[in-house]
Amino acid sequence: MRFDRTFRVVFRTLARAFRVVQCGVFCAALAMFLFASAMVRAQSGSAPAAPESAATALANGVEVRSGALHEQVTALRDDVLRIRAWRGDTPPEDASWAVPAAVRHSSVPVIAGSAHDHFGFRTRALAVAIDAQTLEITIRDPAGEILQQDALPLRFEGDAFRISKAMPLDEHYFGLGDKTGPLDRRNESFTLWNTDAYRFQESTDPIYKSIPYFMTYRAGLAMGVLLDNTWRSNFDFGKESPGVYSFGAVAGPVDYYVFYGPAPKQVVETYAWLTGTPPLPPLWALGFQQSRYSYTTQARVLEIADRLRADRIPADAIYLDIDYQFKNRPFTVDRAAFPDLPGMIAQLKAKHFHVVMITDLHIADCPGPDYAPYDSGMAGDHFVKNPDGSVYTGVVWPGRSVFPDFTRQQTRAWWGTLYREFHHDGADGFWNDMNEPSIFNSPTFTMPLNVVHRIDEPGFAPRTASHAEIHNVYGMENSRATFDGLRALDPGTRPFVLTRATYAGGQRYAVTWTGDNSSSWNHLRMTTPMLENLGLSGFAFSGADVSGFAGTPTPELLTKWIEIGAFQPIDRDHSEKGAGNKEPWVGGAAQEAIRRHFIETRYELMPYLYTLAEEASRTGLPLVRPLFLEFPDATADRHPMDLDTPAAGEFLLGPDLLIAPPPFPEEIDAYQAELPSSGWYDFWTGEKICAHALPQPATVTVDPDPPKDVKQPLAVPLTPQLDRLPVFVRAGAILPMAPLVQSTDETPQGPLTLRIYAGDHCAGSLYLDDGKSYAYQQGAYLRMNFSCQVNQKGLELNISAHQGSYPAWWKEIRAEVYGWTPVEGELLVNAKKVAAGISQRPKGAVVFRIADDGKGAKVEIR
Ligand code: NOJ
Repeated sequence: MRFDRTFRVVFRTLARAFRVVQCGVFCAALAMFLFASAMVRAQSGSAPAAPESAATALANGVEVRSGALHEQVTALRDDVLRIRAWRGDTPPEDASWAVPAAVRHSSVPVIAGSAHDHFGFRTRALAVAIDAQTLEITIRDPAGEILQQDALPLRFEGDAFRISKAMPLDEHYFGLGDKTGPLDRRNESFTLWNTDAYRFQESTDPIYKSIPYFMTYRAGLAMGVLLDNTWRSNFDFGKESPGVYSFGAVAGPVDYYVFYGPAPKQVVETYAWLTGTPPLPPLWALGFQQSRYSYTTQARVLEIADRLRADRIPADAIYLDIDYQFKNRPFTVDRAAFPDLPGMIAQLKAKHFHVVMITDLHIADCPGPDYAPYDSGMAGDHFVKNPDGSVYTGVVWPGRSVFPDFTRQQTRAWWGTLYREFHHDGADGFWNDMNEPSIFNSPTFTMPLNVVHRIDEPGFAPRTASHAEIHNVYGMENSRATFDGLRALDPGTRPFVLTRATYAGGQRYAVTWTGDNSSSWNHLRMTTPMLENLGLSGFAFSGADVSGFAGTPTPELLTKWIEIGAFQPIDRDHSEKGAGNKEPWVGGAAQEAIRRHFIETRYELMPYLYTLAEEASRTGLPLVRPLFLEFPDATADRHPMDLDTPAAGEFLLGPDLLIAPPPFPEEIDAYQAELPSSGWYDFWTGEKICAHALPQPATVTVDPDPPKDVKQPLAVPLTPQLDRLPVFVRAGAILPMAPLVQSTDETPQGPLTLRIYAGDHCAGSLYLDDGKSYAYQQGAYLRMNFSCQVNQKGLELNISAHQGSYPAWWKEIRAEVYGWTPVEGELLVNAKKVAAGISQRPKGAVVFRIADDGKGAKVEIR
């Protein structure tokens, strides 16, 4: 009997595999997974008993019932589905910390389409079929191509559930925030449970964040999956069962979103539509930031700031870690070590430094007049409780501590008021650390699962919730309380909040970093996939402790880390107590000169960086990008180019800059970088990357006339050098750059530089505003677009009129054109010849200056 049922299941799944023969090259893979999944069913003996099922067509989807199980699939947009399932008659509460109600309840009409064996519907982008027997879901594109398919029926075990999907052989998985390991999550398994992971290593899991979202990517087609469930969850990409990837949680709702690209960028933008975009940060947050656990006295902080200025290392922020506090109590100051905090901040401000202060969430359990946060928190009943109603305490830096109940809006509002004094003292940024939450005297290093939180939040039923439910959103709600509190204290200024723990949607409140990494070459290498996956998971603004938190780097490691950090969104040099000094001057003048050069380059690129930041705030597109995000067609079979060994350590900063660190930066062996087949230039020299320009032409694999549909990456032989970091610019890029400043508070003196790299799709843009307020929302910004074409007459550069009311800091534009040589040496602006003309540098760049009156210009160079 058992055999018979198993046989039928195998037969049915194989038959189904052959029905989808139209899936072409993926058929074999699909058949394999279906067979594998049938075997999994057979082994587990879990073939469905097939109770009677019935469906109700909804205007925006379908709801199917089979026995006690309900499954509802609705279309929020043509390309976004929400899938919910529950047992019994009452659906779980429709509430979310990640996806706002207005988004959750968006809907589009669908066309119902059921048959004898399935229920389903179509939108303009997707067709959904739910197997009438098993309730397995298949999602196809309008051409019938299977995009995603359940491999097994939804499985419940007590409160836990698991969703299993077919895993085609050539599908890749990205996201889940900064989980360790390779960029591709395939063949890995991850637990989402926010964890203080001091000195995490390459295989440590879980770590600080829980972002239950991933992107699937197969042959150029990308989809997103967001499991909106805050409980401890697990994501397995074929590690447990080959041919099947699966995800589930120990409890909580079966509530997930599936969304279709097909372009990976569309998936990133749709994820931002679901969970929000990051706010535009203050400009200074993109400057170089200097930190340490801790600069323990006021004098030392000022000394560090003075040295940065004296050594002319551009910098914008300096951090105060926990030792500025009295006995590590948040929202206090150790007056012996910091006798005049406001005075110190004022001195730093005068030198254009912004001060970021750590404010951990644990409130010292210290009643009495010396420590207001405890008493005011107790008076307002703001702390989480034990099941018996007493206030929960745990030991962290200050000793015994109590913990705000951030799922209550009143508690968040109270928390926000705690910032009044520091804000008044002039601090510009705040750092929410330890908010997994980390607790030293607990066997699990966090709160017991039965600690009681109270939910008081619009959209949620007021109720209590166990820590097991709230744990993964606790850090995000902490950063939300900080962000909202700062907005309330100073509505005109953009807050800067840095958080360690977070959940899906946390990008709306804070930027993040990857936690306590180590001073090792391996950790430097690890930063790239961690930041790339964070960027794909909503966190456009992120960084890793430059120099490595734990341990002391060699001078060479510190130098290389500063070089690479200069091209990452948050560029913060930070280190742990007890480790050697790691400021840019440590290790001698020669090392410092190299480091200074890279930090200076970051500042010169600030117009480009800030333009990317503004794009991120509108679209969710990250600053640091894997190659496949911009170049999904880079390989002939459209697999992500990032997965090929020569390109594995590379990353993009925005669409135009490609950074190619040596795969093993500590080694001296030559290596080969691979660039997507469109043309590239060397950022440092402006030389076009081509067979002739390379030092060793014999090894270059550039085919001058590649067959049309075969992608041929550019292979570039490189030799690691400590003072060099290979950076390439996309042919067709127009990079806006600025004269060097020592901090972003300074107004650059001189012209705006446009570096124009001749090539296809030649375009660029620039965004600027006051860098600190919300006046840009009322039109006080400056936006410009640039484009160029090479035609028979010469090169034409179009500069748009200034949009918005924010004034430019430049009067002139200085253009540098790479990769193109004029014949006549003539320059025309709006059809009028310009006497000053052009000059040509010996090695190539054509340089000219034109006035920029804000009205736009057509520039012709002949
Ligand atoms: C842990 C954080 O990860 C680290 O960055 C910080 O320096 C220490 N806590 C001390 O606050």
